[in-house]
Amino acid sequence: MHPYNLYTIPVSLQVNFDLGNFEPCSELIVRNLSDLSSIFNDQQALQDLLVVENPVVYEFRYAPFVTPVSDMTFGITRINPGKVGNEYYMTKGHFHEHPDQPEIYTCVRGCGYLLLENHAGEFKAEQWQPGTVTHIPPGWAHRAVNTGDGPLIFLAFYHLSAGHDYGTIEKTGFASLLIEQEDKPVFISNPARKSG
Ligand SMILES: [Fe+2]
Repeated sequence: MHPYNLYTIPVSLQVNFDLGNFEPCSELIVRNLSDLSSIFNDQQALQDLLVVENPVVYEFRYAPFVTPVSDMTFGITRINPGKVGNEYYMTKGHFHEHPDQPEIYTCVRGCGYLLLENHAGEFKAEQWQPGTVTHIPPGWAHRAVNTGDGPLIFLAFYHLSAGHDYGTIEKTGFASLLIEQEDKPVFISNPARKSG
């Protein structure tokens, strides 16, 4: 049994697209830099930053609308602007635990990219601006990257039971990194890419 309330009657939330939150909200996950130490390429830059502070990289709020027969879930993520070395702040990235589960993301503020990669190693990057809707098919890992000067905020719609598999993509990393060069986002091959 999951710990969430059952929603047997229709309910509504109020979303703030500027702040990247909604009310009422009971489920919040905060990722500080120290929680994301394994995903950044420049480990020296990471350690240098952590000596000084441990900033919030992103916050994820979600509302699991669980009924006896469904578990449609709404989420909103706010990635703060920032970099580790020259690599932009980003989400941890995950596959869904259940291989038949898709997801829809909608960018509402800021700019960046959604990085996607499947188990066969096919890589895609979708450029985001406010209003961009991206369908993530089943079997594609996904990670959002904030390349702007302000927050990147996006909505998520998925089934709660899709689950999160963070470990698989954490081991291999995505095929490409998104770094800043001459004030612009540039893709480079991931030098730490491990096979298998
Ligand atoms: Fe997902």
